[in-house]
Amino acid sequence: MNMKENEILPLMVNDHCRLEKLLDDLEKNIDKEQTVMRESFYQFEWELEKHLFTEEKAIFTLYNPEDVSEGYKMLPELIKQHNFIVNKLDNWRKNIRNNKKIDGFYDFKKFLINHREFEEKEVYPRLDQTLDDTQKKLIIRRINELTYKG
Ligand SMILES: [Fe+2]
Ligand SMILES: [Fe+2]
Repeated sequence: MNMKENEILPLMVNDHCRLEKLLDDLEKNIDKEQTVMRESFYQFEWELEKHLFTEEKAIFTLYNPEDVSEGYKMLPELIKQHNFIVNKLDNWRKNIRNNKKIDGFYDFKKFLINHREFEEKEVYPRLDQTLDDTQKKLIIRRINELTYKG
């Protein structure tokens, strides 16, 4: 097997691209009628929640960086950012349920882009470096189970 086939980073970059397209759809539909905007939101939310679940439950639970001081700091920061994301989705869901516009779209978009860059530049390269092949194979199998392909 070549190196690329057993790397987490390219798979997650793919999923990030897909999520970014869904976010673009939401951006386009943000001022359209409520049913159209709602549909875009629900699709973005569903896929983003699956992504966060994949990261937290399928990937980070297998990363045990006790002896790597930098790696050890990385996870609490990630979880903190994920919590912020989940809260924002909750707020938007409430906005939509009350037939209101979603608020702070561009700030949230900026936050997501920074989060994505943190993962792609620091988190996943480090995981690919430090996990052994068996762990990576398991993680990649789980990613493929959970993320959308098509
Ligand atoms: Fe994430
Ligand atoms: Fe991510």
